[in-house]
Amino acid sequence: MLTTEQTKSYQTNGYLVLEQCFSDEQMDLLKNSASEIVADFDPNSTRAVFSTEDHSKTRDNYFLSSGDKVRCFFEEDAFDDKGELKQDKSLSINKIGHALHQLVPEFKTFSHCEKIKNIALDLGLQRPQIHQSMYIFKQPKIGGVIRWHQDASYFFSTPLSVVTFWLAVEDATMQNGCLQVQSGGTSVAQDNPLREQFLRYTDDSTELKTLNDMPWPDDDDAKPLVVKKGTLVVFNGLLPHFSAPNLSDKSRHAFTLHITCGNTKYAKENWLQTQPSLL
Ligand code: FE2
Repeated sequence: MLTTEQTKSYQTNGYLVLEQCFSDEQMDLLKNSASEIVADFDPNSTRAVFSTEDHSKTRDNYFLSSGDKVRCFFEEDAFDDKGELKQDKSLSINKIGHALHQLVPEFKTFSHCEKIKNIALDLGLQRPQIHQSMYIFKQPKIGGVIRWHQDASYFFSTPLSVVTFWLAVEDATMQNGCLQVQSGGTSVAQDNPLREQFLRYTDDSTELKTLNDMPWPDDDDAKPLVVKKGTLVVFNGLLPHFSAPNLSDKSRHAFTLHITCGNTKYAKENWLQTQPSLL
């Protein structure tokens, strides 16, 4: 259960770092489960990469139909000029998404545990529901940059309610591209109108629509969240965040959940329209 100080800190800063929230054994269980998924994955079945910089690459059917599936997406730098993997597939996957919380027993059990549910309730999410899960590898040397963004752009609801649960499956450091968040605001919601909205139209075309000209924070003003394995970071969907490329020789595995309040109206224009799981 969160303390009053913790919920106050969350409301002011837009995020909360919960150290030693989960055990090393729990993290290893998730890591092993993710490795098994990759081991079973046929790398010749797709060339889909995940990028937050070039949205044309995420528009394909492989991505848009992955909401209720378990699919692997490559790092952008995974392939050479001839389109061949430069290294073993286990070091080439950017992420697995987006229904691990529904389809993979280890992730399902973890995602629906009492601790996650109680934190969601303490943060004010009534009837919390999970829309999406992702296992992010942030591979050594090729783990790409994730530019500044707000997660609410992808989980629009009226009123906005999405909270990201970001779990460090491995230690996250400055060298391996830890999460970095905007800091210094008096109120994350007042300081940060939603800047962009990712829209999926009825013909399955998509658009990242700019909603206003509010600039992104400077990288130098960001607060790096250097955290140990087993730490849970929860943050408001309006909180701007990014992560630098991983230029180190260590991976930075993380597992994320996107959870909204079941009492809010989930937009039909969101790309992901699968049935959420109630916590
Ligand atoms: Fe994000």
